[in-house]
Amino acid sequence: MKIGFVGGTGHIGKGLALRWGKGSNHEIFIGSRNESRGREAAEEYSRLLDEAGYEHEISGGDNRFAVENSDVVLVCIPYKSVFETMESLSSVFDDQVLISPVVPMFKSEGQFGCDDCCAALDIDNATPEGVRVVSAFHTVPAKPLYEFDNPLECDVIVCGENDAKMVVFDLIDDIDGMRGLDGGDLSVSRLTEAVTPLLLNVSINNDISHPMIKFISP
Ligand SMILES: NC(=O)c1ccc[n+]([C@@H]2O[C@H](COP(=O)([O-])OP(=O)(O)OC[C@H]3O[C@@H](n4cnc5c(N)ncnc54)[C@H](OP(=O)(O)O)[C@@H]3O)[C@@H](O)[C@H]2O)c1
Repeated sequence: MKIGFVGGTGHIGKGLALRWGKGSNHEIFIGSRNESRGREAAEEYSRLLDEAGYEHEISGGDNRFAVENSDVVLVCIPYKSVFETMESLSSVFDDQVLISPVVPMFKSEGQFGCDDCCAALDIDNATPEGVRVVSAFHTVPAKPLYEFDNPLECDVIVCGENDAKMVVFDLIDDIDGMRGLDGGDLSVSRLTEAVTPLLLNVSINNDISHPMIKFISP
């Protein structure tokens, strides 16, 4: 699969690019607002995988480069920049599956909260019609992804249209220990987006580093 990362120079982009980049199953395209920053990030991720002895196909450039080369695009940018960025890329999108881990989150008086909106629906409205938006990975913290040889025992709730969700479930299966769960259609994403600030508050108040979610059945 050809996977592009808009804002792939940041935390969650790095983590997922390393997980999918190791081995030769996927071709990774790292995007940035700045072409050289995208290339430098791709070089850094390639070096990390080289040092661990993995083959990889990772290249970098600007965000247009990441979108136009990919079948699946991850939007790894802050919520506040979503509209401007999607508009600037609208002519490059084709019929990709677009994955949103975007959380419309804020911090106020030492606590995290969520804006009264749905980032995935906003992204869906801001992209051309053929693009199929799926929301996923909101509850996966970036740092544990960097340790790309450690299995991540966590669940990932996936929301969107059925065919596009299948593509994302396959990508989740490629990350050791991770399980994808169907959350429903894209409008449900509002609920999964709100779990992230909850996890961060629990993390701070209870001194639990990088909490994730796992559904259990008695
Ligand atoms: N970090 C996590 O653990 C985590 C977990 C789950 C979900 N998320 C969500 O994933 C998204 C990315 O999170 P992150 O932690 O990776 O963010 P980040 O590291 O702060 O930023 C990611 C990238 O976004 C680009 N960016 C920053 N400001 C921008 C702007 N005004 N316009 C366009 N691009 C801009 C930057 O790339 P360039 O400067 O190279 O363009 C930056 O490297 C967020 O919506 C977040 O809620 C994060």
